[in-house]
Amino acid sequence: MKIAIDGPAGAGKSTVARELARELGFIYIDTGAMYRALTWKALQEGIDLEDPKALYELAVNTDIHFTFNSTEQKVMCDDVDITFLIRSPEVSSVVSKVASCPDIRRVMVRRQQEMAANISVVMDGRDIGEYVLPDAEYKFFLTANLDERIRRRKKERAEQGFEVDDEAIKNEIIERDRNDTQREVGALKVLNDSIVIDTSNLSVKEVVNRMLSIIREA
Ligand code: DC
Repeated sequence: MKIAIDGPAGAGKSTVARELARELGFIYIDTGAMYRALTWKALQEGIDLEDPKALYELAVNTDIHFTFNSTEQKVMCDDVDITFLIRSPEVSSVVSKVASCPDIRRVMVRRQQEMAANISVVMDGRDIGEYVLPDAEYKFFLTANLDERIRRRKKERAEQGFEVDDEAIKNEIIERDRNDTQREVGALKVLNDSIVIDTSNLSVKEVVNRMLSIIREA
């Protein structure tokens, strides 16, 4: 079974997706982490983020994979553990630029489809229901109002030990929403078969329970 979860930054996708996968005994794949990993490496190597050819070269020559055990998931880039590094404000502020490059999206979508082949997965991102797993049995679209998304992102940033600048986080989310919804390929959108859940006033447990009851009812 494949479950796609799409939605804007701060809608609670990754926390909910991880928990849903745990409840169902499925593998969770965080596709945003893959765009972040590539962005991290591009910054490390001083690659011009406006140069799609250089980014493409980097993408095809970079191994990005996940390791799992019962309690945690790690993001590995060329065998370096970058799980925490990809959440930095530096990566967050420019990742949507990298993710808007069509050639990069083609590479990532193909890798994500390979990862999901033959296993039951919960996968979250922006284009999962439309491009990565168009045959997914369930396509959830999680959303929340802007203030709530900003509040969650600030909390997450503080918990990860990064400096929290209110205005910068607000601008980053607005900018990312714009890039993620307006790019030419793989833009974030509600599909005809999306199940939309507004998480603004719901706890993680409430969202997961709602999803589980939709899946179990069917
Ligand atoms: O979900 P996130 O904040 O970790 O995503 C990081 C960036 O990658 C964000 O700008 C959207 C982009 N992204 C994407 O374009 N397609 C995906 N499937 C996942 C993330």
